[in-house]
Amino acid sequence: MQLEDVVTIKDVEKKAWEALEKSIIYYKGHPIGTVAAYDMSVEALNYDQCFIRDFVSSALIFLMKGRTDIVRNFLEVTLNLQPKENQLDAYKPGRGLMPASFKVMSDSAQEYLEADFGEHAIARVTPVDCCLWWVILLRTYSVATKDFCLAYRPDFQQGIRLIMELCLATRFDMYPTLLVPDGACMIDRRFGISGHPLEIQVLFYAALRAAREMLIGAENENIIAAIDNRLPLLCGHIRQHYWIDMNRLNAIYRFKSEEYGKGAVNLFNIYADSLPYRELDKWLPRKGGYLCGNVGPSQLDTRFFSLGNLMAVITDLATEEQSQAIMNLIEARWEDLVGDMPMKICFPAVENEEYKIITGCDPKNIPWSYHNAGNWPVLMWMLAAAAVKTRRVHIAQQAFEIAQARLLEDEWPEYYDGKSGRLIGKQARKYQTWTIAGFLLAKELIDNPTHLPLMSFEELPPELVSRACEFELSSLETKSCI
Ligand code: GLC
Repeated sequence: MQLEDVVTIKDVEKKAWEALEKSIIYYKGHPIGTVAAYDMSVEALNYDQCFIRDFVSSALIFLMKGRTDIVRNFLEVTLNLQPKENQLDAYKPGRGLMPASFKVMSDSAQEYLEADFGEHAIARVTPVDCCLWWVILLRTYSVATKDFCLAYRPDFQQGIRLIMELCLATRFDMYPTLLVPDGACMIDRRFGISGHPLEIQVLFYAALRAAREMLIGAENENIIAAIDNRLPLLCGHIRQHYWIDMNRLNAIYRFKSEEYGKGAVNLFNIYADSLPYRELDKWLPRKGGYLCGNVGPSQLDTRFFSLGNLMAVITDLATEEQSQAIMNLIEARWEDLVGDMPMKICFPAVENEEYKIITGCDPKNIPWSYHNAGNWPVLMWMLAAAAVKTRRVHIAQQAFEIAQARLLEDEWPEYYDGKSGRLIGKQARKYQTWTIAGFLLAKELIDNPTHLPLMSFEELPPELVSRACEFELSSLETKSCI
């Protein structure tokens, strides 16, 4: 690296910090979060709000820099926004839910917070991921400050418990995964990801692990037992049924169908004709693999979703072997998955009739745009963390250099369009906070891999893993959650 390069990186970093500072939201004089985007050139819509999922990226960089106050304040105010009672009105948010976003309002000089649980959101999507991110962030805060006192406070114990109750409630389906409607996560529009999308399952796993570390006391005994019960099954289910590599593709390709009863091998009755196996046969590198997007009755969504795969590596949900295979795939298919801006939210895009049916003709999600295989710089920190975790830092460095050359000049766009991600997203906001934070985080993780434990977990205890290996769908039929 040349001396001028070092100066340039420092300059970009400085500008990124200035932009991040500008995004901070104050409430009664205290910093409590960051706006989604600070872009004065377009109508704000709800981008002037603090989104829970977006703030996680800001929170991480603040924690790494010892600025714990803003994260603590955020956790406290959002806890206060969480409904503690069940509502009679079915249009109101249920007990335990966390909002997608909130905003500071004022009324005759009195400030107050207004939350959006999806009731104002475009298409009224429900933010299932937000309560999971909240639990994960609380644990991150506790690890960063080496102080679990906040998590042990009775109101926080109740907050975690209510979220766990919501996730572990008795329900209709009999998978260890979480059943959610379409658009319940970062992809908050119709995108054919209803059912058991990978992103939610990985965050669910991490939230269960985080809650397990933080819940204490006799009143939480039942929840702790339910978590212990669920974790290995969830882990085994994802590792087994979501995994795709050449071996697995071969097995699926030759699956028998219409199997009834306990001895079924093709548990979900996947028809090989529903898979793009000719493309996958070409695309899958010999030593690569990934976790697919969704698994359900006669459904295997073979799209690659970055957030789910990267977070599975970071949180130890993927095995060491699977993690290495995921990174092999990213390296081997760099042009498709990273291209000119780290990194694609998913791959490939849905096109033609499929695009119409899956998105409902959404003009924002046309092929190779926005959620439909656009490139989102925020994902760069997850790529960097996964690379550091798998001891393949060069991947993080390579991605960082690509981003560093463009982001400041392009004014920190929310996303990029096109097959390689060279076009600034058609409707992308500029000065998108998680783009800025994602960039700073990637740099910090490369320079200082000791930050990794903020987001990662140890392997599951051996006794739980061995139960996971014994996993059989039939065993689920008898499991009641709480
Ligand atoms: C878009 C993204 C969503 C994000 C929000 C605010 O709706 O899809 O994930 O939280 O913008 O940045």
